[in-house]
Amino acid sequence: MRHHGRRVLCAGGLAAAASACNPTQSALHPAGEEAEGVAHLFWLMTGTGAAVWVIVIGITVYAVLGRRRPQSERFADRFILIGGVAFPTTVLAALLVVGLALLPAWTEDEAPDLRVHVAAEQFWWRFAYELPDGTRVETANEVHLPLGTTEFVITSPDVIHSFWIPALGGKMDAIPGRTNHLRLTATRPGVYRGVCAEFCGLSHALMAFPAIIHAPEDFAAWLAAEAHPAATTVDPSPFVENGCGACHVVRGISEAGSVGPDLTHFGSRETIAAGTLPNTEANLRRWITNPDAVKPGAHMPPFDQLADAELDALILFLGSLRR
Ligand code: CUA
Repeated sequence: MRHHGRRVLCAGGLAAAASACNPTQSALHPAGEEAEGVAHLFWLMTGTGAAVWVIVIGITVYAVLGRRRPQSERFADRFILIGGVAFPTTVLAALLVVGLALLPAWTEDEAPDLRVHVAAEQFWWRFAYELPDGTRVETANEVHLPLGTTEFVITSPDVIHSFWIPALGGKMDAIPGRTNHLRLTATRPGVYRGVCAEFCGLSHALMAFPAIIHAPEDFAAWLAAEAHPAATTVDPSPFVENGCGACHVVRGISEAGSVGPDLTHFGSRETIAAGTLPNTEANLRRWITNPDAVKPGAHMPPFDQLADAELDALILFLGSLRR
């Protein structure tokens, strides 16, 4: 019944409903415990709201069209007391209790399965995985998670952003000078989409990231591969000589600058420019020569002075950075 209801809603064509129909980025297609709670609350509130609406409209229609005969004062008093005070108080209190039960606990005693540090930047995502020995593996614009509980440690170096993976749960602000913690428990493997949910500048809407949920053993293999330095046989000199290393780290090749996204395993990523374009040679060419045309306000300068052969060599090198 509920699924039928969703299909009707999805067929509705309302803008709000339409955006909820992309299952990779929908709070109504939960892939985690917290998102399941939110989805249940949504359907409960929608159902309750619809029932109350039907009752109120029914009474209104009866009052307008029904047989008119005088009611006793006693009946009128009771009607107002029950229908106008007791009924809404009970319904709203019940919904409040259900909603409050979804709030996270004040204290979290159990250690999470994984801790991921998130820095929201204009306009991309820096992710760092905390290894058991305390060291960190940095990556960008694509988050991989195992089934189970992950604690996100969230901040921002520039303006306020908001970290949100709708399929996993609620959002959390990324605030400069402050560290926020968010725990999400993934229950269903798959590829989902995370976004920035707080207006943060010109390219706020171009600040997304794939969120890939793995079975635990697959995740361990991914993290081990991600922790390795770049393994490429392609000549890195176009990258090094054009100054790309002033902003981007490619572990094992250039580790000086880190104001931009880490590119160590860039070739294995699905998207470029933080979820903005598929990772293809043509898109990479567009991005490198004129980032502002792809993503207004991006801090990366245009590299339109590169000769064609040099640009080809640079794209070849970046594409070879595979896990
Ligand atoms: Cu970052 Cu909106």
